[in-house]
Amino acid sequence: VHFTAEEKAAITSIWDKVDLEKIGGETLGRLLIVYPWTQRFFDKFGNLSSALAIMGNPRIRAHGKKVLTSLGLGVKNMDNLKETFAHLSELHCDKLHVDPENFKLLGNMLVIVLSTHFAKEFTPEVQAAWQKLVIGVANALSHKYH
Ligand code: HEM
Repeated sequence: VHFTAEEKAAITSIWDKVDLEKIGGETLGRLLIVYPWTQRFFDKFGNLSSALAIMGNPRIRAHGKKVLTSLGLGVKNMDNLKETFAHLSELHCDKLHVDPENFKLLGNMLVIVLSTHFAKEFTPEVQAAWQKLVIGVANALSHKYH
C-alpha cells in the first residue's frame, strides 16, 4: 500500500487526538459485543457476561489500549507495515491462533468508533485514508499466516 502525503496527514490529524485507552477500550469492547465469537480469545479476561460488563471490564480496556498503541506503530511506519507487524503476525498465528478475518473486523470497528468521536473531522476523505490504513495493518498482520 502506498499512502499519499494527504492521506498521511488525514490519518495523523485524527491520531494525534486519540485517547488510546478510551478509543482502544471501546473498539475492543464493541468487537466482543457485535461479534460475540471473538470473546473466546479473551475467556481469561474476567466478566464478559453482558455488553455493560464488557464495556466496563478494566482488562478489556487495558488490552484495547495495548492493541491501539501497537496500531500506532503502523501510523508511524505507514510505508513499512509488513515488517512493522511481522512479529505480531507470527504471534497471532502460531501462539494465539486468531483467525485473520478478525483483524478486518477490528479495523472496521475502529473506524466506526473514530467516526463517532470525531464526527465533524471524520470527512469521507479522512475515512478513506483510515480505511486504507486499517486494511493495510490487517493484511500485514495476516502476512505470516501459514
Ligand atoms: C495480544 C496487537 C487484533 C487477540 C496482542 C498484543 C498486541 C496485539 C500488541 C500483545 C502481544 C504481547 O503480549 O507481546 C493487535 C493488533 C491488532 C490485534 C495491532 C489489530 C489491529 C486482534 C484480534 C484478536 C486478538 C482481532 C482476536 C479477536 C489477541 C489475544 C492476545 C493478543 C488473545 C493475547 C492477550 C493476552 O492474553 O494477554 N495483540 N492485536 N488480537 N491479541 Fe491482538
